[in-house]
Amino acid sequence: MNTLNRRARKTLLTAHVATSVSWLGADLVLVVLGAAALSGRAPDGLYPVAALIGDWLLLPLTVAIWLIGVANAVLTPWGLLTHWWVTVKLIVTTVMLGLVYLLLTPGLRQAAESGAELAREDRLNMVVAPGVSGALLIFLIALSVFKPWGRVRRAAPR
Ligand code: HEM
Repeated sequence: MNTLNRRARKTLLTAHVATSVSWLGADLVLVVLGAAALSGRAPDGLYPVAALIGDWLLLPLTVAIWLIGVANAVLTPWGLLTHWWVTVKLIVTTVMLGLVYLLLTPGLRQAAESGAELAREDRLNMVVAPGVSGALLIFLIALSVFKPWGRVRRAAPR
């Protein structure tokens, strides 16, 4: 399916890049908050802020990213399952979306409730989880720019 004119396609791509890199920004803020709380700086104040970012920003943002990403694929000649770089992005983004909903934001809420009482292992997780997510997002950005690996299936010979 390729139903977009040039201007509409660029508008959709702008929305896609803007939302996707916002996810990376939100992750980096969570790393800073988690690292500050890990080092003992006001965890009772920092974890509730991190939980707010998770609930008010990450949850709606990740769904928007997924939907706009899929729209970018199905409404352009790239297709959703036609090129490896798009297919891998779809898989990684879907897994990450699940982790945000099932692990990250519940963990942030738990941290907000526990504050300074949060176990050291869980405090470490509040840095490692957004850190790994940020690294994966940089990988996805590189994938989007380099567009490696070609087509999923070769075109049938004429
Ligand atoms: C459901 C997941 C995703 C799908 C299906 C998807 C699909 C696509 C497609 C098809 C394009 C090309 C659009 C066009 O040329 O008009 C694109 C561009 C792009 N995507 Fe994604 N994407 C997804 C997630 C992400 C994520 C999570 C990031 C960043 C962390 C990202 C970053 C980018 C960037 C930077 C471009 C612009 C590349 C360029 O114009 O050279 N995408 N994406």
